[in-house]
Amino acid sequence: MDFEFKSGEYYKIVNINSPEPVIEFANGTESAGNPSDIEGISFEQDDGRIIVHMPINIDSHILGLGERAYRIDRKRLKLSSLNSDPGGYERGRDPIYFPVPFLVKKDPKSAIGIFINFPGEIRFDTGVENYDRIRIEIFSQRAQIFLFYGKNVREIVDSFIRLSGRPFMPPKWAIGHTISRYSYYPENEALNIAKRYREITRVDAMYMDIHHMDGYRLFKWDRERFGDGSEFLKKMHGLGIRVITIVDPSIKADQNYDVFLRGMGSYVSKSNGDIYFANMWPGNSVFPDFFNRAGREFWKSEIKQWVKQGIDGIWLDMNEPTILTDDHMFDLDSVHVLDNGKKEKHRNVRNAYPYLEAMATFEALSENVKEPFILTRSGFAGIQKYAAVWTGDTKSSWDDVHLQISMVTSLSISGATVVGCDLGGFFGESSPDLIAAYYRMALMFPLYRNHKTIDGNDQEIFLLPDISKKSILRSIEMRYRFLDQIYSNLYFSSRECRPAIFPLPYLYDNPEAFYSDDEYMLGEGILYAPQIREGSRTREVYIPEGLWHDFWTGTKIDGDTYLESSEEYPIFIKNGSSVIYDGTIRLYGDGVFKIFVNSSEHVLEVSGGKIKNGAKIDGYRIEVVG
Ligand code: NOJ
Repeated sequence: MDFEFKSGEYYKIVNINSPEPVIEFANGTESAGNPSDIEGISFEQDDGRIIVHMPINIDSHILGLGERAYRIDRKRLKLSSLNSDPGGYERGRDPIYFPVPFLVKKDPKSAIGIFINFPGEIRFDTGVENYDRIRIEIFSQRAQIFLFYGKNVREIVDSFIRLSGRPFMPPKWAIGHTISRYSYYPENEALNIAKRYREITRVDAMYMDIHHMDGYRLFKWDRERFGDGSEFLKKMHGLGIRVITIVDPSIKADQNYDVFLRGMGSYVSKSNGDIYFANMWPGNSVFPDFFNRAGREFWKSEIKQWVKQGIDGIWLDMNEPTILTDDHMFDLDSVHVLDNGKKEKHRNVRNAYPYLEAMATFEALSENVKEPFILTRSGFAGIQKYAAVWTGDTKSSWDDVHLQISMVTSLSISGATVVGCDLGGFFGESSPDLIAAYYRMALMFPLYRNHKTIDGNDQEIFLLPDISKKSILRSIEMRYRFLDQIYSNLYFSSRECRPAIFPLPYLYDNPEAFYSDDEYMLGEGILYAPQIREGSRTREVYIPEGLWHDFWTGTKIDGDTYLESSEEYPIFIKNGSSVIYDGTIRLYGDGVFKIFVNSSEHVLEVSGGKIKNGAKIDGYRIEVVG
């Protein structure tokens, strides 16, 4: 089939059987009719499903697909894209909270991306049943599919982020050191913990988990624990700490609860039209139907009321949506009413639920707070417009510290650019040494939050033995020294629709890059290889091609090589890049450097080792490193 790309186009739409997508993305060039074969990709329809085949060979690599408890390269796996709540997942568990139906296939000379704009079940077989093919089984008779062509992974990923939406810009405080626990209460104890932290280090925000609520009723403080919340908020703000409260989608079914009554008419229903009730934290609960305007408007007005008192951010949890049954699965036959009045079964639109919830929440925050910040556990392609994402209920372990690098960076190249994981790990025991490893590992991640479950060990830093405490305090200090740099990367990620952090194969496609899944990059310029091996403070680092500088010693390194590092934070800078560190802007080699500090963009130019035009940036020293 003739399907030539013209210059300037970055994707093609393949519409099969006139789909009406629940979430609309920008229009591209459409294929005519139902295609059977495009660039070796074939489409088959069978028994209510659409099956896509993409050829692969021994040299192909596969990236993307969102949050998966697997290595970076997704080749030879069977993965599903109907999200689920796998509490306490470990490597190999699938699906989990946030699959994204976008994959990149990298062949030696080209790359192809495919994004399936369908929020129901899709199964990906990346070369297991068929050695020479990817098989994508879409459980729908209609689907909108986007194809991306490019020379490399980066082109495909950036095109996908451009298509799915400009990443929101988080407030700077949200990317600082933040603390959380399931759950801190009452008020005095939460304040005491905040103060104890502040005595030893910096904390920019505290997340309030479900026990701040009155019997798990959304938007109601537990009066015995927190009064009306006002004193608590005032005192926390007095300490310089923002407050982010959790908000689940479950609304207690209680005739004496005003929120429940106001939402009447806006809840998800059963197939017979009755309201759908399910068990969640508050017991018998109902769930807002974010798929239609009435549901979203109801939600927005509740969120607005809630944040007015001075709440700084919203943490959207359990929003796959999940319920308290053995498999945590919402009734797949429950019914949503869409904006166009049509009804859809939950199974066909499930993954869009958290996306639409985040969208409505973001709209409400945008109208009521200066710097909206939302953290969400689940989502769909495009979540980056509204929310940051964390990887949910991990199980603390040395393998998890390693695994989180692939998980977080894969989410990032699947569009969820503001991303992180629970420092310390959520479930299970975390030894002080292990907590310290999480703090080192996530040093350059967009989010930096300590969080632990209700029946896990306390992992507040001030409680830990000196040796680990000191190590963690050094990591937090280091985090703040690099904070301007991380923020600058997030700014350019938002402005230019590209990931801020990524795994090496986003830029480099040699085998070494694909196997270096214990390293990651912050922008093109910074390579970070954290010390995350139990009992060891020395590691091998793969340095990709090109000229690099050891950030600490200044040693120049001719890349595409391995070296051993016993630095506490092995960091390497690509020649031609800049780094903002502790108030100094270091420019490595000649070039044009774009930097975002003091709320604005600056361009610096170095040639022959000299800065042109004697550039100055208030509050920063500028240094040229040869
Ligand atoms: C599940 C979330 O993933 C976790 O972070 C939170 O602490 C619990 N729900 C309780 O709200």
